[in-house]
Amino acid sequence: MTALTCIAHRGGYLDRDNTPENSLAAIRHSLALGVDAIEIDIWQVQGQIWVTHDRRLGRLYSGTGLICEQSLNTLRNLTLGNDEPIPTLPQVLELVGDQCLLNIEIKGPNCIPQLIKELTYYCNHSNTSLDNYLVSSFDQRQLLQLKRELPRLKRGVLLAGLPLDQTAQCEPLEPHVLGLHVAAADQAMVSDAHRRGYLVWVYTINHQDEWQALSELGVDGVFTDTPQKLQAFNNGLL
Ligand code: G3P
Ligand code: MG
Repeated sequence: MTALTCIAHRGGYLDRDNTPENSLAAIRHSLALGVDAIEIDIWQVQGQIWVTHDRRLGRLYSGTGLICEQSLNTLRNLTLGNDEPIPTLPQVLELVGDQCLLNIEIKGPNCIPQLIKELTYYCNHSNTSLDNYLVSSFDQRQLLQLKRELPRLKRGVLLAGLPLDQTAQCEPLEPHVLGLHVAAADQAMVSDAHRRGYLVWVYTINHQDEWQALSELGVDGVFTDTPQKLQAFNNGLL
């Protein structure tokens, strides 16, 4: 049985007070663990890329309303439970460097031009390879736009339900990774994805019994909130 690639979900290690999701503190913790990849969520608002998951304020950041409708001033003054402001993409790129793969998940609309700008700027100025990044989304239109504008950047197609045409719908996007909900991860799906040359990653799995079952199916990696535990599982220590 091969080890499951360990992808720290939302920066990894979710502790509301000290290392909240999509915080620099969480990412630092995941880097210290030596995870294989770190996944973050992004929105483009007011011409900048912000690293956060929710469409609305209120859960992690105080306030109300849609994130896309906030002013630059409001966004700059929001803080997490550990007093960190919302991380920006350049801050995360700088922190992660080439220490592990960074999986950037596009959550909000109209991200591609600014994402390409910030990513290529960072790579050109730091000598970091674009190979160090995977850009994924449930939004296949933005992935298609990305493929047209920066084809060499690895793409990940996320599927939420159980579509009739399953992996076939991903073909025009030529993904590196197919990201599946656990309910969609059966033998037929995994074999079909592998036949097409895609890696299969499953979100978001925190329990050993499911890691075992997914590993037996031939799944390549899992997004997890408990990366340290997954590493122990991979090392046969659980
Ligand atoms: O990228 C996989 C996973 O993060 C998708 O779900 O809602 O946690 O972004 P969500
Ligand atoms: Mg995500």
